[in-house]
Formats: sequence, C-alpha cells, structure tokens
Amino acid sequence: MLPPPLLAALCLLPALSGVVNGIAWTSAEFPDIRGASSEQCQANVPPDQNLYICDPDRVLNKSQTTWLNAMLHDLTLSTPCPCQRRSQCSGGLDNDGGPLHGFVVSIAMLKNVQMSIHSPSENDLTVRSEGFCRSLEGKWALGDCGNSIIIFVWQHYKKMIIWPARLAERYVTVEERRAILSKVNNLAQGDEWYSALTEVIGSIRRELNGEPETRVDTGTLSLVVSVGVAVALTIIITCTSPNKRELY
Ligand SMILES: *[C@@H]1O[C@H](CO)[C@@H](O)[C@H](O)[C@H]1NC(C)=O
Repeated sequence: MLPPPLLAALCLLPALSGVVNGIAWTSAEFPDIRGASSEQCQANVPPDQNLYICDPDRVLNKSQTTWLNAMLHDLTLSTPCPCQRRSQCSGGLDNDGGPLHGFVVSIAMLKNVQMSIHSPSENDLTVRSEGFCRSLEGKWALGDCGNSIIIFVWQHYKKMIIWPARLAERYVTVEERRAILSKVNNLAQGDEWYSALTEVIGSIRRELNGEPETRVDTGTLSLVVSVGVAVALTIIITCTSPNKRELY
C-alpha cells in the first residue's frame, strides 16, 4: 500500500501535466484578438500597432512575438487595399484618419486544441484545424471585405494552416498555400516556429502583392464555347458539301 501523500501526488499527476502542457483550447475559449480577452494573447505591442498575433500558451518568447507583430503590421500597410470601397480599408488601424491598410494577416498559435479523437490521423487534424480557423475567422472578424488571413499553428502536432477569407483566397490559392507550407515543413517539425512564421509571412506578402486569380465567368465561357461550336460546324458543312457548290 502506498503512503497517502504519494498516492495523492500520483492522482495529481494528470492534472499537473495538463497545467504544464497548457489547456486544450476550443475556439470559443481562445482569446479574441480585438476584444477584452486579447490581454491573454501575451504579445508586447507598441502603441502605434494593432495586435496581430495571439500566443496565449507562449509557444514563442516576447521578443519573437514582438518581431512577428511588427512584420504583420508592416504587411498590412504595404499591401494594396483589395476592397471595392476604399473606406473599408481605413478602419481597424486607428479608427479615423489612419493610413489605409490592405490585407490583415494574423497568427493564432496554441499548444493544443480540444479533441475527442485519441490518435487522430493527419486528415482528422486538418479537419479540426480548419473548423477552429473557421470559427476564429467569424469571432475575430478582421478585414472588412474578406481581406483577412489567419495563420494557425497547433504546436503539439506541428500542424500549420493558412486560412484565407473569401477575397484573400483569390490571392493565395490552394496550390500556393500548399507550396508555402511544404517549404517550411522542416522548420515546423523542428519546432522552429519563429523562422517558419517569418518565411510564411514573407511568402504570403508576395502573393498578396501579386494579381488575384481571375474567376472564370461561366456566362462568358458558355458564349465562347457556343460561338466556337457554331464556327466549327460552319467550316465542316462548307468543306464537306462540294455538291452544293455545283448547284450554283
Ligand atoms: C527568444 O528566443 C530566441 C531563440 O531561441 C533567443 O535568441 C532570444 O534571446 C529569446 N529572447 C528572449 C527575450 O528571451
């Protein structure tokens, strides 16, 4: 029989390891980067910058979050405003008279997400991460015209997601996101999040300064196809009916 103090210590172990690993977050509990709970985000942000990084479990240290925040602040000022109305790009920084901003890229990083599956597959992790990002996109509500991107880091599984809102998705396409993430996969696997994030931010910034992918309008497409078919038919009919010509 174990002595009671040892028994008590054993019973406390799981609880203690929970404290050491940080809590497993739900998107509802995760801090609101623009709300009252943003204090938990732990970043050290100068007064002329907004907060763009939320790292409540302190995966990064203070100087790293300060640098990344400065990079994201700079990105916002050095990308073009993609919104239809310019006024949609003037809010957010300082509410009136501030410089126009383009895209709003922010980082959500945490040690663990609450999940009921015990040995999740890569696909389970992706589905869970995307669900988390979807809720966070709604909760944080950054950017006024779908011009926001969330970079999500789930440290425990070395999982990273680039989650663009509707308009930003045309600038950073699925293939581009895949390429960006595979380039930094080694850094992520080595827990070198600062270097990984620096590269990701640089790549996203280049894409956001480029041209958006143009959506193919189905109306135009069907017109082009039907004109093409008509021309082809005319050629075929003209070329394959020599008898007709003899009638004239
Ligand atoms: C933060 O971490 C980096 C990399 O490990 C280190 O070089 C730097 O000195 C740390 N900064 C602080 C304030 O602890």
